[in-house]
Amino acid sequence: MSPQGKNADASAYLLYHSIGMYPGKAEEMAAAFAAFSAGWGAHDNAQWMHALGMRQEFIDRWQTLIGAPAGTLTTSENVTTALNSLIGALPEEHLKGRRLLIAGDCFPSMHFLLSGLAARYGFTLDTVPLRPGESWVRDEDVIARWGPDVGVALLTFVTSTASHRCDLETLVAHGRRMGSIIGVDITQAVGLLPYDVMHPVVDFSISTSLKWLCATPGAGILHVAEPLIEACRPELRGWFSQADIFSWDLDKFAFANDIRRFDNGTPSILACAGSLPALRWHAGQDMAALLAHNRRLAGSIVDTAKELKLKLVSPENEAERGGSVMVALPDTVNPGAFVQELAGNGIYADHRSQILRLSPGCMTTEAGIARLAEALKAAL
Ligand SMILES: Cc1ncc(COP(=O)(O)O)c(C=O)c1O
Repeated sequence: MSPQGKNADASAYLLYHSIGMYPGKAEEMAAAFAAFSAGWGAHDNAQWMHALGMRQEFIDRWQTLIGAPAGTLTTSENVTTALNSLIGALPEEHLKGRRLLIAGDCFPSMHFLLSGLAARYGFTLDTVPLRPGESWVRDEDVIARWGPDVGVALLTFVTSTASHRCDLETLVAHGRRMGSIIGVDITQAVGLLPYDVMHPVVDFSISTSLKWLCATPGAGILHVAEPLIEACRPELRGWFSQADIFSWDLDKFAFANDIRRFDNGTPSILACAGSLPALRWHAGQDMAALLAHNRRLAGSIVDTAKELKLKLVSPENEAERGGSVMVALPDTVNPGAFVQELAGNGIYADHRSQILRLSPGCMTTEAGIARLAEALKAAL
């Protein structure tokens, strides 16, 4: 079978920034979808209890994972919709006539959304730029631009372009002094780096489950801190936003007191069902060991890049880095063709222009990283 065939050797699987893998994922997901289908297709009246139970387990596991108190986390289709829902719920005082601060290395979808919403909600989207020639926005530049007129700041814990890990403690402490609402996009960190919504206390967190957590697409989350929930009036609302979803009197709509006010119509459950095996697997792992394994292999990629004089796009200092190592390929190498050549040899990575993105996870091995090093040497 070709190395790209089903269940190919994962020793050089380096796509955890995109889709995470764990042992037995395909089989466990198939079984979870089969269990969902069996309940949903049963000729009885227990379908909803069965399905909503799966969604609740998804929510409970996520709450435990990021230290979110019960009633402060719900599902969303993706990170963009989670942010949309939050912005559409904030009291006007945080948006109208205020600045919404974001860094130029945020995930582009967040910026696309916010630039489209700015005029409607009356805020100015202020994007802290990268310094010329640099590949991540420096924390000190974010702080320098973060004044008391910033109504909302969206921080990216780990960036998708350089795997830069920001210093949340320092940034959040500054944001508190400025009185801003502080949200964090944890997509590229959660499942690998420790994250706790209480340390430091943030106002909202948004993510998906498909990267280091190894789950499915469509399984996003929105966490909103308790005091903020109370002040929020989500624009996108529906029968599931109520404490009693069966309260159907057209004149008596009432928001639930907890995060359920951010729900709207019938929730999408399939992604939760498909994600449960990965979340259960992850909950049984030694987080420190997962990170140590990543650090060892990422360190070895950094050494190879230095040996080959490849420009490192990610921070060399491990404390400032997420789980990925990005390197710039020289102009003499066609990145698309090189990534395909790697795949032909069972080495799975991707690229953004000349930048090769390499993310070793729990199934990646030292032997796989050695094969990557050989392939890079041969290409250069
Ligand atoms: C930092 C970050 N945020 C968000 C996303 C995904 O956003 P969405 O779920 O809206 O596609 C990604 C995907 O790579 C990401 O790296």
